[in-house]
Amino acid sequence: MEGRKYIVKGGRPLKGEISVKGAKNAVLPAISATLLAPGVYEFKNVPLVRDVFCMLNILSHLGASWKVDEDTLYVNTEGIHRVDIPYELASQIRASILFLGALTARFGEAVVPLPGGCQIGKRPVNFHQSGLEKLSAEITLDHGNLVAKAKRLKGAEVVLDFPSVTATENLMMAASLAEGETVIKNAAREPEVFFLAELLQRMGVEIKGAGTETVIIKGRKRLKPAKIKIIPDRIEAGTFLILASLHPENEITIKNFPFEYLEAPLLKFQEMGGVLERKGKDVAKVYPQRSYRPIEISTSPYPGFPTDLQPMFAVALTQAEGLSIIRENLFENRFLYAFELNRLSANIRVEGQTAFIQGKTRLVGSPVKATDLRAGAALVIAGLIAENTTTIYRAELIERGYEKLPERLRELSAEIEVEPCALCEA
Ligand code: EPU
Repeated sequence: MEGRKYIVKGGRPLKGEISVKGAKNAVLPAISATLLAPGVYEFKNVPLVRDVFCMLNILSHLGASWKVDEDTLYVNTEGIHRVDIPYELASQIRASILFLGALTARFGEAVVPLPGGCQIGKRPVNFHQSGLEKLSAEITLDHGNLVAKAKRLKGAEVVLDFPSVTATENLMMAASLAEGETVIKNAAREPEVFFLAELLQRMGVEIKGAGTETVIIKGRKRLKPAKIKIIPDRIEAGTFLILASLHPENEITIKNFPFEYLEAPLLKFQEMGGVLERKGKDVAKVYPQRSYRPIEISTSPYPGFPTDLQPMFAVALTQAEGLSIIRENLFENRFLYAFELNRLSANIRVEGQTAFIQGKTRLVGSPVKATDLRAGAALVIAGLIAENTTTIYRAELIERGYEKLPERLRELSAEIEVEPCALCEA
């Protein structure tokens, strides 16, 4: 990945409107679902982020073609002629595991590299594997590749040990072409899972219970391509909410704000004293406060507080008067950003899966490193309120999930420059 650094000059009030783009974590499974039926798909409101292009490059390798017109993505999967994904492509994106279910279901075969660990944690794929085995796939590990084989998958009952988002999605896709009925218990309830069910329904699958902990899928022999609009990105919306709240003179309105997906974070935001006004269905006007209260946050699967938003809330809590506590319950290594925030003079102590944030601290710019996508977004927020200049290395990681963030923030009068950075390259 080509390296970049963001140079942020903090302290300026931000003013204006910003719109939330489509959800990265909704479009990634939608891209793999295009393997389930040959033909042309049309996805609107697609965020043009690196992870989306990584998934599309894999599709091209498999024989599909695609084009992007503004924020509409057209995918044609008529030409798929292979079922193996090379390590070079898969290793760029963990969501490549999402191809396993669809390839096996449609072609009876798939070769998908083990995604391996990443900065935020080990992230094993055992639920994906054992779930597909329940649907009668045979899966072996061969030279680092998961090799799946099946004549035709057969519906079954799968009970997930934990409501994993991508495991639920993989199994829903696999079950869509399986013979008979599949019941997924302890399924993930994230809005992106519900969205995938909507897409699969449009493709001809019968699904009940998506968005609840039991999803029932009746497989079909053949499916058809579909058109759909990608739902708004709740994590981007939450990122903008915090960003808008931290400078007392900010005047920011957030459009396409998915209130219904953000209940838990909004409750925590209100608990810390945050104020936002709902204008109509999906417009949020944020009123920054001069002082915030410390709170406790514990991450959990949806509808609980999302792990992907805890780094941004941590930045907000450096500005709260007192001791806040964040417990991370999903990924074992999601506090790396805390050490970077401490470089900006935050006072965060991490003990195992818990971060203790002592506020209020005046943040002062320094060089820092984005350790993952969400950590990077949190550092941008911190840099915008810190004194002087914050240089964020490895900022290309931010571009995995946020489209043109510096450009969009500049429209709010943020001072943020992007420079290539050879040092950053992995
Ligand atoms: N887990 C296992 N075995 C598995 C699968 C998961 O032990 O086979 C564990 C994980 O290690 C973790 C927990 O289950 O402790 C939950 O992980 P989950 O599988 O739900 O995460 P994921 O599906 O790999 C998606 C998002 C992540 C987001 C998590 C949690 C996509 C493409 N990714 O990952 O998004 O953090 O759910 O909500 O949907 C991001 O966008 O920055 C991001 C990391």
